Amino acid sequence: MADLGELREEYGHDSLTEESVDPNPIEQFRVWFQEAMDRKVTEPNAMSLSTVDESGQPWQRIVLLKAYDNKGFVFYTNYDSRKGKQLANNPKTCVLFPWILLERQVIVTGTVERVSTAESLKYFSSRPFGSRLGAWVSNQSKVVSSRSILLAKFEEMKAKFKDGEVPLPSFWGGYRIVPETIEFWMGGKSRIHDRIYYSKQQDGAWKIERLSP
Ligand SMILES: Cc1cc2nc3c(=O)[nH]c(=O)nc-3n(C[C@H](O)[C@H](O)[C@H](O)COP(=O)(O)O)c2cc1C
Repeated sequence: MADLGELREEYGHDSLTEESVDPNPIEQFRVWFQEAMDRKVTEPNAMSLSTVDESGQPWQRIVLLKAYDNKGFVFYTNYDSRKGKQLANNPKTCVLFPWILLERQVIVTGTVERVSTAESLKYFSSRPFGSRLGAWVSNQSKVVSSRSILLAKFEEMKAKFKDGEVPLPSFWGGYRIVPETIEFWMGGKSRIHDRIYYSKQQDGAWKIERLSP
């Protein structure tokens, strides 16, 4: 057995208080996201997205956050993928930003909705040519018998569409995670970590509480 019992870091270079955080968790997220960028976290917009299948089995995968504001957190994917099917059946989700370099994590729970086709098209059009073709090539999450099939499909799509003329696939687009709770976690000395937990109230206001580490 690989024993990792001695692998531990002492945290606590910073602290987070109920008084110091922004009353709006999206603004607090903006501050932390900027710090993650300033500290050169690799792909700070990478988040682990959880979904649950019909049998209750949870699944996770990394997706990239492409936009956020008071309405929610937006990522793009294939609507027919495994996650797409699971979200169609159960739109409840949870995402986690693992900013371990900063001794921080942010956990968002909420419900997804599809962004408008216009919003998906705007983002799709901004992607490099190869990525736009890639959306057409991949039947995301389906079994494929070999890599060469994907490469052949890529060449086929390259011949079919010219740069600038790749249409938005009907099966591809964005989801907005409309947040219901957002937790900001920061490592503290002797495992006395800070956990500031925002939950959305009926009237739309955010309640702020501290959770025990
Ligand atoms: C760093 C990183 C970023 C990724 N970004 C995305 C993304 O934005 N959208 C996406 O559909 N898949 C993305 N993927 C691939 C997903 O993790 C996953 O393999 C894919 O979406 C299929 O997931 P599913 O079969 O559970 O639907 C990314 C993977 C990594 C490692």
